[in-house]
Order: sequence, then C-alpha cells, then structure tokens
Amino acid sequence: MTLRSVILGTGSALPRRRVDNAELATMVDTSDEWIVERTGIRTRYVAGEGESTTTLAAEASRHALEMAGLQAADIDLIILATATPDQTFPASATTVQAALGINDCIAFDVAAVCSGFLYAMTVADNMLRGGAGKTALVIGAETFSRILDWEDRTTCVLFGDGAGAAVLRAEETPAEGGRGILASKLHADGRHNGLLHVDGGPSSTGTVGKVRMKGQDVFRHAVVNLAQVMKEVLDVAGLSTSDIDWVVPHQANARILDATARKLGLDPAQVVVTVDRHANTSAASVPLALDTAVRDGRIKQGDLVVLEAMGGGFTWGACVLRY
Ligand code: COA
Repeated sequence: MTLRSVILGTGSALPRRRVDNAELATMVDTSDEWIVERTGIRTRYVAGEGESTTTLAAEASRHALEMAGLQAADIDLIILATATPDQTFPASATTVQAALGINDCIAFDVAAVCSGFLYAMTVADNMLRGGAGKTALVIGAETFSRILDWEDRTTCVLFGDGAGAAVLRAEETPAEGGRGILASKLHADGRHNGLLHVDGGPSSTGTVGKVRMKGQDVFRHAVVNLAQVMKEVLDVAGLSTSDIDWVVPHQANARILDATARKLGLDPAQVVVTVDRHANTSAASVPLALDTAVRDGRIKQGDLVVLEAMGGGFTWGACVLRY
C-alpha cells in the first residue's frame, strides 16, 4: 500500500452575470466571429456587486465538501491559488476559512497565476503525505474581470471569473492501480515576465494594475511547454499517453487545447473543454473543468486523469491522478 492524496469531492462556482461576445462587441472593436474563431470562447462570467474571489471560493468549497461527504471541521489545510485576492493581505485562504466557520487549520494562498491550481495541489499533496494533516481543501479562484483593461480588445475578451475546489484526503491505496495523485511536475521560467503580466502591484506602483499580454508569444510557449510537461509527468508515473482516460487542461484557448492534444496523439474527445462557456478563468479553470466533467459523469472513479496548466511567470505544470 502507498499513502496518496485522493480527490474525494469537487465543486465550482460562477458569478451570476454571464456576458456573451455580442455584449463585448458593444464595448470594444471586436466581433463574435473573431472571438469564436481565434479562441473558441462564446461566453464568460463576470463578478458583480457582493461577489469576489473569496465568495466564489467559499461557494465552490461548500459544493466540494458536500460531494466528499465531509464537514468544514474535517479540513486541516486550505490552499487557495489566486492572482486576484480580495486583499493584498491577509491571504484569501483565511477569508474562506472564516466563511466556512473553521477556527483553526493551516491556510495560505499560492500565486502561480493560471498554473496556480497545479501548484496548490502539488503543495497540498506533499504536505498531506508529509503528515501536516489528513484532509486538504485546494481551491483555484479568480476575479480577473477586476484587473482587465476593458478598453484593450486583445485581452478583455479572453478572461472570465469563477472558482473551483477539490477536497483531498491522504489514504493508503494499492501501489498498483490505487486511487490518488500518482505524480506531479512543476516548472517556472521568470525570464518571460514581459510576455504576460500585470503592470502594477503594491511594491512597484502602489496600484493594482491591469493584465498585459503578448498573445502570440504566449501561445507558442504554451503548446511546447504543455506537451513536454505532460510527457514528463507520465514518465515519472511510468505511464504513457495511451493510458490516459481524460485530460483536464487549463482553458485558455480552444486552439491551444487542440494543438496540444494533436502533439500528444490524443483523441480530442478525451480533452475536457469548458473554455467556450467560461473563457480563461486563470487558477480556477482546471478545477472548474474537473468539476464539470465529474458532475456530468464523464470522469468516473478509477479513471486516469491528467491535469495541466501554464500561466504568467511563466509557470507551468502537470499532474497525473487516478480519480
Ligand atoms: N477582436 C478583433 N480583432 C482582434 C482582437 C479582438 N478581440 N484582438 C486582437 N485583434 C486583432 C489584432 O489587433 C490583429 O490585427 P492586425 O492584424 O490588424 O494587427 C489581429 O486581430 C490578429 O491578432 P493576433 O494577436 O495575431 O491573433 P492571434 O490569432 O494570435 O490570437 C490570441 C490572439 C490572444 C487569441 C492568441 O494569441 C492566444 O490565445 N494566445 C495565448 C493566450 C493565452 O493562452 N493566454 C493565457 C495563458 S495563461
């Protein structure tokens, strides 16, 4: 038997307001046709009054706990991945902790932008297996709408708000064929800050700043890095692409999803796609897509699932697990 972190439940949350491409075309010089053809995005959700990264995170967490059949008091560790915290400090994880009514557990945020959920899950997995606790709540939650330049058509059409969560529990599982996280691989290369960043922050400008991106350059790096890290993580787990049942990728652009699947020789039907409905929700996109495919019955217990993401930094990573 081997101690592994097993996903017991997933949950997600979206803001009330849905914005379609036609509505964006009234704000900037764009069209439904351009956005669908270049990105696959048709709608995204935008947080309104009373909605924030932590309200969405708390709602997603409640759904995940319910699926897991656990109470908030069972949580030993909360890791929240976000680039859009409610406050510069304290960590949004502690706001979620209070909203869930947990008085004492480990709680902190990780910042790895769109790869945040992969980073958070890997840290949680290592902490659980290292004995820091038995049960973890791992969340990806964002309100990118609040850091978009709504006059910049090259970025504002691409992103949306939302949250996804997973409850992980350390369990002894069979070494061969057992459930849980089998391997994770993370990377970062800080030389690419200029290709995808926010042009502000507490210690530089004293402002929050807006998202800036050189889309074509990011696209090129994404396809290469994602295909490479997926191969790497499968190697570590002693598996090959033909073993995979599902890929749950970061949802940035339908063309990146297609190109990566092609590069790995995967059937596009094995790739979970939500970018059409949610757009790019940064750290929330992988857990949102995972929850979608679990709840609609595609991902079943025992399936081999690969999660992957790449984001600002650059940071990128992949994780292979038996659901
Ligand atoms: N509506 C209409 N036209 C637009 C537009 C919009 N929303 N945004 C850009 N354009 C224009 C450009 O100005 C350019 O016009 P020009 O040829 O007159 O200069 C033209 O469309 C082509 O722009 P380009 O940037 O070459 O398009 P693209 O095919 O590379 O698609 C992205 C742009 C952003 C969709 C694409 O590069 C992408 O998805 N990149 C990766 C982004 C990503 O993954 N980011 C997050 C990682 S976490």
